[in-house]
Amino acid sequence: MALQFSPSTEAKFQDLLKRYPTRAGALIPTLHLAQDEFGGWISPETEQYVAQKLNLPLTHVREVVSFYTMFNREKTGKYHLQLCTNLSCTLVGSDVILQKIREHLGIGPGETTKDGLFTLTEVQCLASCGTGPVMQVNKDYHECLNPERLTALLDKLAADGKKNA
Ligand code: FES
Repeated sequence: MALQFSPSTEAKFQDLLKRYPTRAGALIPTLHLAQDEFGGWISPETEQYVAQKLNLPLTHVREVVSFYTMFNREKTGKYHLQLCTNLSCTLVGSDVILQKIREHLGIGPGETTKDGLFTLTEVQCLASCGTGPVMQVNKDYHECLNPERLTALLDKLAADGKKNA
């Protein structure tokens, strides 16, 4: 079935168009809407849909999607764990957090748990270097992580995820 924004997302899209002088200017916020609407990632079909909505060349949309790491080019788990492993976070223990995630969930960077709940991605600086180690879970930041806080967070997410499955 062809992709289509829900009525509420379409309303947000129309509102976006009023705020930008050109349709091209609305590309990044439209991609965010599309990612949220269509399963948390930008598929080739979604790229086409957005290109059509904004009357832009598909190649332009694809370039933007592939440039920004905030757009997922593959389907992710229900919870997308984006752990910063850049220098500041590593100095305060993101390597320990990464190891703990491996042990607790059995996945490494680029992998998704078998139950589809968690995908882990290593990212470079979430612009919160003073509160590392930092991990973004979907749209929320979790800062000053240590193994205990991480484990509690993952267990809570797993319980919530199974409850709302
Ligand atoms: S180095 Fe981790 S948030 Fe900047």
